[in-house]
Amino acid sequence: MTDLLRPRVLGRSPRRVDGPAKVTGTARYAGDQHVVDPAHLHLVQAEVARGVLTEVEVGAARALDGVLAVLTPDNAPRLASARDAELAALQSHDVAFRGQVVAAVVARTREIAREAAALVRVRIDPRPHDVHLSADRDDLYAPEKVNGGADTDTSRGDLGTGLAHSPFTLDQTYTTAWYNNNPMEPHTTTALWLDGDLVLYDSTQGVHTTRQATAKVLGLDPRRVHVISPHVGGGFGAKGTAHVHAIVAAMAARAVPGTPVKLALTRQQMFSLVGYRTPTVQRVRMGCDADGRLAAVALDAVSQTSRVKEFAEQTARPTRMMYAAPNRRTTHRLAALDVPVPSWMRAPGECPGMFGPEVAVDELAAACGVDPVEFRVRNEPDVDPETGKPFSSRNLVACLREGARRFGWEHRDPTPRAREEAGWLVGTGVAASTYPVSRTPGSVAAIRCTGPGRYLVRIGAADLGTGTWTSLAQVAADALGVDFGDVELRIGDTALPEASVAGGSSGITSWGSTVVAAAEALRERFGDDPAAGDEVRAGMPDNPAAGRYAMHAFGAQFAEVRVHVDTGEVRVARLLGVFAVGRVVNPRLARSQLVGGMTMGLSMALHEHSVVDERFGHVVNHDFAEYHIATNADVPRVEAHWVEEHDPHTNPMGTKGVGEIGIVGTAAAIANAAHHATGVRVRDLPITLDHFL
Ligand code: MOS
Repeated sequence: MTDLLRPRVLGRSPRRVDGPAKVTGTARYAGDQHVVDPAHLHLVQAEVARGVLTEVEVGAARALDGVLAVLTPDNAPRLASARDAELAALQSHDVAFRGQVVAAVVARTREIAREAAALVRVRIDPRPHDVHLSADRDDLYAPEKVNGGADTDTSRGDLGTGLAHSPFTLDQTYTTAWYNNNPMEPHTTTALWLDGDLVLYDSTQGVHTTRQATAKVLGLDPRRVHVISPHVGGGFGAKGTAHVHAIVAAMAARAVPGTPVKLALTRQQMFSLVGYRTPTVQRVRMGCDADGRLAAVALDAVSQTSRVKEFAEQTARPTRMMYAAPNRRTTHRLAALDVPVPSWMRAPGECPGMFGPEVAVDELAAACGVDPVEFRVRNEPDVDPETGKPFSSRNLVACLREGARRFGWEHRDPTPRAREEAGWLVGTGVAASTYPVSRTPGSVAAIRCTGPGRYLVRIGAADLGTGTWTSLAQVAADALGVDFGDVELRIGDTALPEASVAGGSSGITSWGSTVVAAAEALRERFGDDPAAGDEVRAGMPDNPAAGRYAMHAFGAQFAEVRVHVDTGEVRVARLLGVFAVGRVVNPRLARSQLVGGMTMGLSMALHEHSVVDERFGHVVNHDFAEYHIATNADVPRVEAHWVEEHDPHTNPMGTKGVGEIGIVGTAAAIANAAHHATGVRVRDLPITLDHFL
């Protein structure tokens, strides 16, 4: 693809279009939409991890004044499709995980609904359950494909020979924890039926994907489902696929004809109903020569899925393209457990999957006495090591060099535990980041001229806080050759042309390419000066280069960590990331995404950890009091920079996506810095103080 856009508006930082509405409290989130006289819904969840419902006693709940309906598996309408077990609400008496929805109460107020839900008596005949993830299980299985359609296993050369001939080898196991997505806005749906059409004000990363999923489950023509989601208070992947609450909300609204129904999940309910990041076990094997050149790289990844619906985290995917080595192998195995269904969480695959390998590189670099920045530089591949395709652009080395310069890496004494300041051991570490450039098909954009040099651009894209309202309008302005203020963008509604989900950092690539195609079509059809009312629609064009090139963003992250000599308390004093993410559409928004990703990586490294009580099968610390997310006092100076990168192949804008790469590698950089500070190698996340005592 050629560089079609003359960047006039791209690369500038207009303020968020949605900013004033958000700071004045007038932006309508899913729970704020004005509907007439709504009822409220509260969900009842199973309190055992596996069993059979023998009785759902609703008499006391129904008797409460203000209760309008109680849905249970005994009275809930049959759904058109129960193939997606996660969405098959109230269709079966089987309980597949603790927290599964077993009843739902509709009442006049939120408080009455919640009180009545507590009065529903659920009897479950418990069956033995198993929520124990281990790489030693004898029932691990290979899924057909992993998330995103990637191969389950890959192999090149001969791993055994490569390891046998390497003077320096590593064979270590690393683990990442169970993490739950916690956007500030809980999952919220307001549902109403109008003449047989379903209207959902839903907090979602994709109005059209939510429409497709709900229409299928409910047996509706998708054109009769209207999803509206102009503003979303964060998602991190948890709102990227439809979850069961949206289905229950639709069912509940049908049970009270003429009454809209509002549902907002509680924070605790989110820990079992909206997906989460699976824990992983990663066996890494590597072999290199005395100069640090890798001869062998392998990652065998084990993660969990729910027994009723498969989700296969693509943990080993980044290992396939990071470093050159003739002998290589990756595998994925799953344990099917009686757990809630795992799903996407910011950089699924790459985020957990870069922890083990990037700590392993640090260990191997130390073993052969090569600086860890230099070690990575020496193992740069000329082409994608597994597919042999050229990279559309690959600037990991530039990120490492620029990061080292900005961070002050050259002054580092490689000896661990060499620096102590007032009772704190101080160390620094580095790790690499990567994330693929993805395009999701299916988007359509409409552009209408509304007056001389003024345009209305419509596409059902999503802004989950990422800045789409602003950045996509910038793309449109350059594509149309007008000023930012001459474009009016509409997104977040299925009344608009279809758009792909905001996921996999593919939003701007997919929607932006589509908007550019529509601008070209407008020019072709109506010339350079279209008249008011002239309008075109265009779909996302193919990008033949996507098949010819390996396309990835890269980054290098540097961390300074302090560990207290006596208490083992771990503090990150400084994070610095340098990224190669193609053209940056809006520096202010991009920096916010990258800093946000790095902050979430710090949180993953030190604080977040969903603790499972295997006796009962649930996350016990399922609230903000006990599931600790990094807050201001935990977050030091976090700097995100980028190198100039011109990639003519990714899309007409030359972008690569910035939503997810910021979290990739952060935890490894922190673990490596903690080792440098203390001499203690932590291979299991999170990095808590007990590791150092
Ligand atoms: Mo992102 S986890 O691909 O929504």
